[in-house]
Amino acid sequence: MTAATTAVAVDGLSPADAALVQAAWAARAGAQCAYSGFAVGAALRTAAGTVHTGANVENASYTLGCCAERVAIFHALTHGARRFTHVVVATDTARGTAPCGACRQILVEFAPDAAVWLVTARGVVERTTVRELLPRAFDADALDR
Ligand code: THU
Repeated sequence: MTAATTAVAVDGLSPADAALVQAAWAARAGAQCAYSGFAVGAALRTAAGTVHTGANVENASYTLGCCAERVAIFHALTHGARRFTHVVVATDTARGTAPCGACRQILVEFAPDAAVWLVTARGVVERTTVRELLPRAFDADALDR
């Protein structure tokens, strides 16, 4: 499925924040979502200001698909990115789409202090954080070593 190329609202955002939101919105075009038809784009920003994007990828063996957030963060991490400040999730839906449980677990490990912005065509419709989305997470400390 190819995501529609309508513009996303960015009124009131700083130029850098507008660019981040637009990057997440545009990233949906890369979604490989033949089975669900649900295109998701994600954009991450690091403390250094670098932006990394991803989109969901599905497979005929359904459980092998990967969400946009994990595609984006795995790409970012393997290209040297650290210290994420923002995670933006973009869907062309009435309400924002919050990261799934598996993505929250990955985000709490690699982007624990990040803000999470949910974006639709109307722009940023909700602002939350990784910690708020996954309180009392199982993390490295829980391994007790
Ligand atoms: N999906 C994401 O990429 N991110 C989310 O936050 C929620 C769900 C994907 C997984 C699957 O390809 C499709 O959306 C429908 O669940």
